[in-house]
Amino acid sequence: MNPSTPRHIADPVVTIEDFSIDYVGQVTTHAVKNVKLTLGRGEILGLAGESGCGKSTLAYGITRLLKPPALISTGHVDFHSREGWTADLSTLSGDELRQFRWDKISMVFQGAMNSLNPVISIRAQLEDVFTAHRPGMSREERVRKCGDLLERVGVERSRLSSFPHELSGGMRQRVMIAMAMALDPQVMIMDEPTTALDVVVQREILDEITRLRSELGFAVIFITHDLPLLLEISDRIAVMKAGEIVELNSAYELYTNPQNEYTKRLLASFPSLTGERGDFIRTGVSDDRLNETTQTEIDQEVATS
Ligand SMILES: Nc1ncnc2c1ncn2[C@@H]1O[C@H](COP(=O)(O)OP(=O)(O)O)[C@@H](O)[C@H]1O
Ligand SMILES: [Mg+2]
Repeated sequence: MNPSTPRHIADPVVTIEDFSIDYVGQVTTHAVKNVKLTLGRGEILGLAGESGCGKSTLAYGITRLLKPPALISTGHVDFHSREGWTADLSTLSGDELRQFRWDKISMVFQGAMNSLNPVISIRAQLEDVFTAHRPGMSREERVRKCGDLLERVGVERSRLSSFPHELSGGMRQRVMIAMAMALDPQVMIMDEPTTALDVVVQREILDEITRLRSELGFAVIFITHDLPLLLEISDRIAVMKAGEIVELNSAYELYTNPQNEYTKRLLASFPSLTGERGDFIRTGVSDDRLNETTQTEIDQEVATS
């Protein structure tokens, strides 16, 4: 984080306009309220806020992975491709959406590592992404790409022949990140991707994500309740409270000059941020474990949509 962090909002890759999501029932919850947000090409946008404020609902809404009783009540999400065309995600049908998801926008959720099929090798599961989305690719190229992907996220190529149970949680989550990167997406949405992992592994993976972002130029919406971590890795941060974005600014401005009362309280709630020297920049990783999200449900949804 530094004051001169470049911002890319002049060249947006995703624009979210007046986006609202309700959980409809006897008591209807307005989980996301009139959110307006722009994700710049190649930007890491942090989304912070306490458990239950609507972060995951927003993520699922952007990628159209919501299930009933969730209902998008207002607004829309536009994707602007690097080739120059724009798609309104709310108008895409099932097939188009499925294609879109891994190809243009991919996702990594907290429980993603548990969604690997235990009886299928890592190679076969990675290969599946290419078989489904790049049917013209030769077998040799597929296998080579799968190996490259693993190495990219810091897992040895030889692990291709492993089964998920032979890998640690951190390695399995890396495999999921590799899978999310497989098709060179322009946007990755990461919802608490490292929260279930221990602090050292979390740190390694975050370094990997920021390095790959510089290398490959994808944009990231990085969601976590862990504000110190977001301050470290984000270009800009949006603070969410009770379904609304209450503040949006560069990480540096947000930290040094928070405007909203809630942002101030949130900052104050992390002891590592209030130390005299503000040394969170080097040490501020929290290992709170909150808010388990499972990818299995999402995959089932994708499979049946
Ligand atoms: N399937 C559901 N049915 C009803 N309400 C839900 C459902 N999922 C989430 N909610 C409610 O929506 C709000 C936002 O939840 P969520 O998006 O999971 O927050 P976060 O990810 O920030 O912890 C919460 O009040 C939660 O109770
Ligand atoms: Mg959540």
